[in-house]
Amino acid sequence: MWKTRGVSDVPKYALLVEELTHLVDTLPIGSPVPSERVLAERSGVSRMTARRALDVLEQDGRLQRIVGKGSFVSRPAVSLPLRLTSFTEDITARGMRPSSRVLEQTTIPADGVLAEHFDVTAGEAILRLVRLRLADGAPLAIERSHLRASAVPGLEALDLEHESLYAALERDYGIRFDAGEQSIRAGNATPIDAEVLGIDAGAAVLELVRTSIMRGTVIERTTSIYPGSRFELSAAIAPVSATGETPESAVRPRRDTK
Ligand code: GLP
Repeated sequence: MWKTRGVSDVPKYALLVEELTHLVDTLPIGSPVPSERVLAERSGVSRMTARRALDVLEQDGRLQRIVGKGSFVSRPAVSLPLRLTSFTEDITARGMRPSSRVLEQTTIPADGVLAEHFDVTAGEAILRLVRLRLADGAPLAIERSHLRASAVPGLEALDLEHESLYAALERDYGIRFDAGEQSIRAGNATPIDAEVLGIDAGAAVLELVRTSIMRGTVIERTTSIYPGSRFELSAAIAPVSATGETPESAVRPRRDTK
């Protein structure tokens, strides 16, 4: 399956940690992880080294050890709340330092799909912003945002590498979203996204598609790609009886759109 690479100047234990991290990132939550003994045999390290490597992953929350049973791929370390918060707010709230790398920042004419989303005529200007989002320097997500250009003139001149989009929208344009919709769907990492995120091509990802609205006008539509092995989504659920109405189901056939 996998083997520790023989790089002589890197401590064996660090290599084993790297290999194990890759392994747990690609396995579903709850999958068993090889035992100390098996790891030691396969990687040619002592059991003590294997134990140290497992300790590191356990401390990172990437695996859980159950006495008498073994080690298992643990629940994701990060929950994404289903609220209209920004990436910057979500990551800061978890005590991590958010940052971004702008991969693309252009103005494009709306095609039929974007025109429908933004309720504009085809050809109207839309800003396209693609960012790699990081937490404490580690890649967490790729976000492809489209913004109604007429609502945010000059936005393309902002340095979105170093500041929050939502903070800039509020400060420079007085935009604070009062409504939105978020769809969550399963996907597989494209080769390009996989490379940027440091995961295997085809690995499971979560795709979050958010439409953000202010006073009835769609301003933003963003698709965020998160590695599925590291995240879960959490949301408060309200009782149905409170409204007296039959609620719309949250599950619906998916439409693949921008
Ligand atoms: C979240 C949302 C995106 C939004 C982004 C803004 O990730 N899912 O739709 O564009 O936050 O983040 P920030 O303000 O940190 O740039």
